[in-house]
Formats: sequence, structure tokens, C-alpha cells
Amino acid sequence: MASVMKFLGAALLLLLYSKGTYSCEPDEVSLGQYDTGDLYSSAPVYNVTFYNGCTDCDVVDLSLRCPGFKTLKPIDPFIFKPSGDSCIISRGLQIYTGVTINFTYAWESQYPFEIAHYHFECAPPPESEVKGAARIVRG
Ligand SMILES: *[C@@H]1O[C@H](CO)[C@@H](O)[C@H](O)[C@H]1NC(C)=O
Ligand SMILES: *[C@@H]1O[C@H](CO)[C@@H](O)[C@H](O)[C@H]1NC(C)=O
Repeated sequence: MASVMKFLGAALLLLLYSKGTYSCEPDEVSLGQYDTGDLYSSAPVYNVTFYNGCTDCDVVDLSLRCPGFKTLKPIDPFIFKPSGDSCIISRGLQIYTGVTINFTYAWESQYPFEIAHYHFECAPPPESEVKGAARIVRG
């Protein structure tokens, strides 16, 4: 059993290496929003989604430009936390590949959110190859 696991692990590492470099392009992440048609305190409710569509990398330290942003409907600060002219998404933690983050807000008009900042976290560091492989198995 142990040797089978070892073999599977080695096969996975080989797969990782043969894939070569890990990279993502900015157009593989997206930010969108839509009017849900619901009202909150008689203001329209908007649903904002961020999607990490890149298969190679996690998105880290994501924040949106949000000067003057207001909402009648409170937003969980774990998901969206104003900090000056930026709003930090998911506490800046990893947004794994294929994952969508969403939140809703309510105001008289739609707020023009734009991505302020993020970076990609790609190849696993050399000393944690096995951990990297395990993560891929889980995903
Ligand atoms: C926002 O929209 C997404 C995608 O349509 C949906 O899956 C999610 O449940 C919505 N979030 C809320 C809080 O309504
Ligand atoms: C929307 O956000 C909620 C709360 O953070 C989360 O539980 C849910 O999985 C998300 N849905 C999508 C489609 O991202």
C-alpha cells in the first residue's frame, strides 16, 4: 500500500514538473456585478462576484478600488473590508483556482468597482513539493 502511494506521489510530481512553468494572465480573473432585482431598505441590491479562472495560480492580496463606497446592507468584513480607498477581499487570503467570491450591497446606484491590487501565487516552493502535490489531489 505504502509503495503504491509512493508511486502515485512520484507520478504526480512528474506531472507537475512536466507541466513546466506556472503562470496566469490577468484576463483569467474577472470581476462582475449585477442588479439582483431585490430591495434592501428600498435600495437596489447588487451582487458582486470575483472569479479566479486561472488553473495554475491562486490569487492573493485581492483588493478593490472603493473610494466613497457606501452600502445600506452590511457586508461581512471577512469578505469585504474597507481600508482607505481600497477594500480588502477575503482578508487578502488565497482565492484558490476555480473559486468565486461573492457579496451583496445595497445603494441607490451601482458602484463602479475595479480591481485595485492582487498577485498570483503560482508554483509551489521547491521545499514543499509534496504539499503542493497533495493540494492538487485534494482539488
Ligand atoms: C451572487 O451571484 C452568484 C452567481 O450568480 C450566486 O452564486 C450567489 O449566490 C449570489 N450571492 C448572493 C449573496 O446572492
Ligand atoms: C457566495 O458567498 C457565500 C458567502 O461567502 C459562499 O458561502 C458561497 O459559496 C458563495 N457562492 C459562490 C457561487 O461563490
